[in-house]
Amino acid sequence: MATERTLSIIKPDATRRNLTGKINAKFEDAGLRIVAQKRIKLSAEQAGKFYEVHKDRPFYGELVEFMASEPVVVQVLEGENAIAKNREVMGATNPANADEGTIRKEFALSMGENSVHGSDAPETAKEEIAFFFSGLELVG
Ligand code: CMP
Repeated sequence: MATERTLSIIKPDATRRNLTGKINAKFEDAGLRIVAQKRIKLSAEQAGKFYEVHKDRPFYGELVEFMASEPVVVQVLEGENAIAKNREVMGATNPANADEGTIRKEFALSMGENSVHGSDAPETAKEEIAFFFSGLELVG
């Protein structure tokens, strides 16, 4: 197994409900280390660029508006198989399908307001980390 890094976002529905600490505890309990973290407010343009891969999907406008609506916490998680492990801890995109004990099962409100984002593969993790963090901010 390899040590990996993945990009995580705690979304506006969760920051609004003061759930950052509870969500971070889920990551840490699963053995993921939060090696970088900052709370920021995305512009619609920045959110649109981050989710550009979804630009032709019917939910894109709603997704961008939501992600720019209130602050988010962007973070880099590190650990053995961090990408897959983070996806396990998050649970399914649609909270109705998420397993017990996952972040989305416990906290997500809907498919759109689903509390967290996590990279889905090594290449996207690299790109998504670079979108938010400079090398200087990644201290390990
Ligand atoms: P995320 O992991 O951030 O990646 C893309 C996001 O689009 C996803 O989580 C959901 O929040 C959102 N999304 C995916 N499918 C839908 C949908 N059918 N309706 C609304 N939002 C969606």
